[in-house]
Amino acid sequence: MYFPAYRPRRLRRTENLRRMVRETRLSVDDFIYPLFAAPGKGVKNPVPSMPGVFQMSVDQLLEEVESVSALRIPAILLFGLPREKDEQGSEAHASDGVVQVAVRAIKDRFPDLVVVTDVCLCEYTSHGHCGVLHGREVDNDATLDILTRVALSHARAGADMVAPSDMMDGRVRSIRQALDECGFEQVSILSYAAKYCSAFYGPFREAAQSAPQFGDRRAYQMDAANGMEALREVALDIEEGADIVMVKPALPYLDVIRKVKESFNRPVAAYNVSGEYSMIKAAVERGWLDERKVVLETLTAIRRAGADLILTYFAKDASRYLQE
Ligand code: PBG
Repeated sequence: MYFPAYRPRRLRRTENLRRMVRETRLSVDDFIYPLFAAPGKGVKNPVPSMPGVFQMSVDQLLEEVESVSALRIPAILLFGLPREKDEQGSEAHASDGVVQVAVRAIKDRFPDLVVVTDVCLCEYTSHGHCGVLHGREVDNDATLDILTRVALSHARAGADMVAPSDMMDGRVRSIRQALDECGFEQVSILSYAAKYCSAFYGPFREAAQSAPQFGDRRAYQMDAANGMEALREVALDIEEGADIVMVKPALPYLDVIRKVKESFNRPVAAYNVSGEYSMIKAAVERGWLDERKVVLETLTAIRRAGADLILTYFAKDASRYLQE
């Protein structure tokens, strides 16, 4: 055949042609915006390694949520900074805990906003691990009871969705059962199903004051080298009752997102984590990257890999870009 019968450039010539054949769409509908609830009043502490991210008391959070909902972002994910930490992470399930109070206030003013709560103990334990300790190890089954109490307390406060991020075995089943028994069968579970032990969580641990005081999380979070294991983790969580399954982090694990999307018929979420955010912010501050273009390209890539939903600190910026 004569050269070239097929010229891919024909459909790239103009913006309208490109729009017509574009395979992946990024929309504000895809975003979940993470927020950090702090005790007190009038508190809005910037997180140094995450420009644009703050720890906020409930009054400030409400203002923030106002702008989130004005941008039509459908959902937020709440983390909490307790007043006090202890060995068992008790404040995580206190009915007057910082997340519980924030959920009530937010749902009261923004009943349509989907409020997702992170269910984990690392922000609440004095040792910074995601579960209770037995010696120097995290005790899986003892942690399940506490996590379940945390999820229930969030549901009682009015959370629409709970998101266990601890990586204990069996926590989705335990939480699903308890929710159903207590009349919260409509509260959904977004499980951090394939959560890797990642150095990209560094800035988050500053934001959430949740760095482990000894050791690391390798005995419960996944090994970065494992892709097939992610499919077993996701299969388990689906069997246990997860409504949405998450892969985390996003960018270094796009292959895992793709595998999960192709293997299961469930909505897939990806967490564009703190370190991924900070890297872009740092390069932008130095004038090395164009923020708008890099953010849109990054989020589009996560969607192209197969994510239906993206948890991202860029949610507000990206929603603005998309509306311009
Ligand atoms: C809590 C939790 C972490 C993140 C979300 N939930 C940190 C961790 O596991 O150490 C990370 C989020 C981010 O880096 O943006 N277990």
